[in-house]
Amino acid sequence: MASISEKLSGPERPLPDERKLDVDEISDVVIEMKDVSFGYGIGETVIRDINLKIDRPGLYCVVGPNGVGKSTLIKCMSKIENLSSGDILINGRSIRTMRHKDVAKFIGYVPVVSKDVFSMSVLETILIGCQNRRSGDSEESKMKAVYKVMVLLNIQDLSEKLFSELSAGQHQKVAIARGLVQKPRVLILDEPTANLDVKYQVYVVELLRALAESEGMIVIMISHDLNLSAKYAHEVIMMSPPGVIYKVGPPEDVITKENIETVYGVHCKVIEDDGAPVVILGQSMMDEFGNID
Ligand SMILES: Nc1ncnc2c1ncn2[C@@H]1O[C@H](COP(=O)(O)OP(=O)(O)O)[C@@H](O)[C@H]1O
Ligand SMILES: [Mg+2]
Repeated sequence: MASISEKLSGPERPLPDERKLDVDEISDVVIEMKDVSFGYGIGETVIRDINLKIDRPGLYCVVGPNGVGKSTLIKCMSKIENLSSGDILINGRSIRTMRHKDVAKFIGYVPVVSKDVFSMSVLETILIGCQNRRSGDSEESKMKAVYKVMVLLNIQDLSEKLFSELSAGQHQKVAIARGLVQKPRVLILDEPTANLDVKYQVYVVELLRALAESEGMIVIMISHDLNLSAKYAHEVIMMSPPGVIYKVGPPEDVITKENIETVYGVHCKVIEDDGAPVVILGQSMMDEFGNID
């Protein structure tokens, strides 16, 4: 069995032998969403009646059309937004009664990354990630934690560079390092593969899967790539309008022709390769006015 640093050492790393995680393993953090609804404005509902329980380590990919509420869902899970109704329990405790600092002890949130998100050096950017979980730590132990994640992600040579000077792949690694430095048991990422070339898309998803498997973490990521999700996720969470969860389960149960055609309005064929579904997209079901046929 390869060590995590071997698994995480670079894009050329081979895939982990086992595609499936031992599903008997119960996570030490359980997240339960109960009838959750949320809207940004009064009387508006963006996500509605969400019921979801995540109690096992693994890589969970959230998929669904633009604007369906994926980012909103994970912001609610991370208490960046406060629920309109329903509740989210973290190890049985209501998120409503938890302080942001307490939520951050369990959950690391990595926003959509663009070069404008952070304007400091790589070292400072990651160090800021210590402010919640490790606020009581000494400067020395914070620096040790920062160094450790930089080594893990192989970005120690970038420490003095400005975040804005990095490539898209490097941005993403620094953002993940910033999420990881607080040692969360749950890491939630908004489109960590956006703007990456295919090599780095595969690298980042392999890395997140390796983290879930080796560290027993719950890793939840939003992705627009159905094939990447189908190949690497332990479970796929598919959302559909009007902001509901359409299906949750292993890729082969969720990434199906019927589900994709219904949720995305695009014809497709789904074949199987090495145990994972592969989507071959066909024609859009939309006419020139944007209406579904
Ligand atoms: N900060 C915000 N204020 C008001 N409306 C928002 C805000 N963020 C998102 N929305 C709206 O909520 C809906 C869902 O957005 P989002 O969760 O970003 O979808 P997704 O991530 O699936 O593309 C969209 O209609 C979007 O315009
Ligand atoms: Mg989004």
